[in-house]
Amino acid sequence: MENDIWSKNIQGIINLDLSREMRFRDDRKDLFLNILGLTEGMTILDIGCGPGTIARKLSKWLGEKSKIIGIDRDTEFIKYAREKAIKMSLNNISYYEGDALSIPLEDNSVDACISHTVIEHVPNKEFLLEQKRVCKLKGRVSVMYMRPDKYIRTEPDLVPKQSKREEELFDKLFKESDEINNEYSVGKYWPDPVGLPRLLEELGFNNIQIDAIAIPIVIDDSRNKINEKMAIVRSEKEQLFEGINIATCLKRDKLSDNELIELKELITERTNQRLKFIKEGKNIWDYSILSLQVVSGMVE
Ligand SMILES: C[S@@+](CC[C@H](N)C(=O)[O-])C[C@H]1O[C@@H](n2cnc3c(N)ncnc32)[C@H](O)[C@@H]1O
Repeated sequence: MENDIWSKNIQGIINLDLSREMRFRDDRKDLFLNILGLTEGMTILDIGCGPGTIARKLSKWLGEKSKIIGIDRDTEFIKYAREKAIKMSLNNISYYEGDALSIPLEDNSVDACISHTVIEHVPNKEFLLEQKRVCKLKGRVSVMYMRPDKYIRTEPDLVPKQSKREEELFDKLFKESDEINNEYSVGKYWPDPVGLPRLLEELGFNNIQIDAIAIPIVIDDSRNKINEKMAIVRSEKEQLFEGINIATCLKRDKLSDNELIELKELITERTNQRLKFIKEGKNIWDYSILSLQVVSGMVE
């Protein structure tokens, strides 16, 4: 049965694919591989893989000798992930539709399990036990999740600010999104920083490790070429537009057609102002630093 609950109601393909491209940049390859304990030749399962971005990164980073499997419940994500892997000629990836709590794989069949921003949406104990089942002895299960309490965002004066009107329209559009999040258990099971490693211990995992990766998203970073700077700004706009389209489909009557057009125009104007600074070579230093926590344990 088709399931497109996540991609149609919560986060779309563009939002996930573009934001993960930025988080899992190629220059962070060694950092991610070390922390997740992933090496060439392994069979790795990415659970709740969404549109498959992280699996594609692993496929490229680890090469043909490795096997990457992505599973997700959402039909649209899996369809997109499969098509993109074919387009990119990544022959060592397979994507399957499936439930994280009932993984369609044999016991002891993978060398490592990873997941990124999934644990907070599923019952933690069942999620970890299922990974323990499919992972081989001495294999590593690594859970990556965001720490919104450790999120840094600068607010420099020069940045083209969101106008009062844009804020007002956004508030109106997203007013009832809590109901939707509750309906689909979004963020219902956010792990406790102490409770999660404790749970791994209780479930019999060994060699438990806690790592953290700070991920700066900085348009003006001098390592970004001008086209990369523009791509970040444009991708932020595309992500906003996709979010607006999703919210509009859910509750058609929240904004009138004119208000929707107005909101998109305000965002486009703000984006264009930001792009103009880039073209003029003027740095704004509007950036954010995300804090990703990684908790992992070995299967014994
Ligand atoms: C925040 S998204 C993260 C997607 C991906 N890991 C990434 O970072 O791009 C959460 C994902 O978990 C998936 N998901 C939620 N509950 C699931 C379940 N019980 N089984 C499989 N996938 C699930 C959703 O469909 C969605 O793709």
